[in-house]
Amino acid sequence: MIRKGGVKIAITGKGGAGKTTISCGLAFKFRDNENQVIAVDCDPDTNFALALGFPNPADIKPISQLKEMIAERTGVESLDKPQTFFKLNPKVDDIPDKYAVSHNGIKLLVMGKVCKAGSGCMCPENTFIKRLISHLVLEKNQVVILDMVAGTEHIGRGTAANVDVALIVVEPTKLGVLTGLNAENLLKQSGIKKISFIGNKIVNIDDEIFLKENIHSDFLGFIHLNKTLEQNRGIFKFDKSLEREFDEVFKKLVMED
Ligand SMILES: Nc1ncnc2c1ncn2[C@@H]1O[C@H](COP(=O)(O)OP(=O)(O)O)[C@@H](O)[C@H]1O
Ligand SMILES: [Mg+2]
Repeated sequence: MIRKGGVKIAITGKGGAGKTTISCGLAFKFRDNENQVIAVDCDPDTNFALALGFPNPADIKPISQLKEMIAERTGVESLDKPQTFFKLNPKVDDIPDKYAVSHNGIKLLVMGKVCKAGSGCMCPENTFIKRLISHLVLEKNQVVILDMVAGTEHIGRGTAANVDVALIVVEPTKLGVLTGLNAENLLKQSGIKKISFIGNKIVNIDDEIFLKENIHSDFLGFIHLNKTLEQNRGIFKFDKSLEREFDEVFKKLVMED
């Protein structure tokens, strides 16, 4: 997995499936294995910082709110009015160093709310963030973990393009399977080469069998419904069994690359 140029991993899945939880577990595992981790919160309802245990997560200013900087970089006077002409290739390479916040050895970029207009929006903010995500320059040993927004609309929009690996988090429910397979289809169409599933909130072996019978693709692993996670109310912490499960997922991820 760790190769020249690092690796960029997008975590997708339906709302509540466990994208942020899986993103945290993987971020910690990569960090503990001597990688430099850049965690990127791509969900407009930002909670990656909170889940990673950052102090005062609400005080982190999302990139999309840095209006003056985005206006300047995209060459427009102001972002307050709709813009027809703006630079499609704004400078982004200095953004991680300038705007990432760090805690416990993890760097975090919070993208924030971009555009109410939705999928097709080509506003300066959207363009800037898309370019930032696809141009996160990776050095050897760097791992970017993108905690994506729920659903699949961002896949079509191209936010998840340019990633090396897409992981689809699925719960063992019919809806979980349906949305997972739909996401897989779209991710394949967008040209991502490595796509794997992670089963989450597994209670018993029947849940694993149900997922494997309905999704005939690669599973990186299964994470059980975990008491410690439930008790911690949204802040991620390993207990022994959770750490063991993440070790398995991590090993498989690293091995398969
Ligand atoms: N394996 C698990 N065991 C127990 N609770 C979990 C597990 N995975 C996720 N959760 C909980 O479910 C809720 C939704 O998970 P989250 O990771 O925020 O989902 P998403 O990011 O996909 O919306 C959170 O409260 C989280 O703590
Ligand atoms: Mg989330």
